[in-house]
Amino acid sequence: MSPDKKKKAVAEACLEYVSQGGIVGVGTGSTANFFIDALARIKGRIEGTVASSEATAKRLESHGIHVLDLNAVDAMPVYVDGADEATRQRYLIKGGGGALTREKIVAAVADKFVCIIDDSKMVDRLGAYPLPVEVIPLARSYVARRIRSLGGNPEWRKDFVTDNGNIILDVKHLDIINPPEFESELNQITGVVTNGLFSRRPADVLLVGSDGGVDRL
Ligand code: A5P
Repeated sequence: MSPDKKKKAVAEACLEYVSQGGIVGVGTGSTANFFIDALARIKGRIEGTVASSEATAKRLESHGIHVLDLNAVDAMPVYVDGADEATRQRYLIKGGGGALTREKIVAAVADKFVCIIDDSKMVDRLGAYPLPVEVIPLARSYVARRIRSLGGNPEWRKDFVTDNGNIILDVKHLDIINPPEFESELNQITGVVTNGLFSRRPADVLLVGSDGGVDRL
């Protein structure tokens, strides 16, 4: 089965987590896009959505799905998003598309974070995928030096500005033994907005699409 077919299968499967009349947080990326297309079919059943990026808001609106400002929302039963890497503990690396900060904020608000991936994203240890770190532009060189001192190899993502007006450093060749500890350590560097490790607030449900169907972890 192609990766796209697996992504579509998990996107369809996670509709069961969308509660009647509730607000749905919606992630960013190709897997989240399959979810948006599936959500369009049941848009009459939900109150509205909160988007984790401008691109997602645009796609939701193109389907006639109502998009709300997060500040206008008191409760969000579910947030649905993809990931770049995932472990069986449901720790994630996210931010390949650069939307990590808004994704982390929306995930923080949600009661349940349902992560949808194809099986190529499953790993034993996080870090082979470059870890995105969103940084205030002025602090780029300082943050890069600090990351190097922690053993990382940061690379400035060229020609890319986040929806928040910041830059991304992609940190290569990591072998992340203790994700919650490393997530906090990176976030303590002044100038870092946040990093793409989702381990202090991991996914609550991980749906994995494979040739054999959809597994739930
Ligand atoms: C966006 O910033 C990312 O966090 C995506 O959720 C992640 O990169 C997964 O994207 P795909 O579904 O396109 O692989």
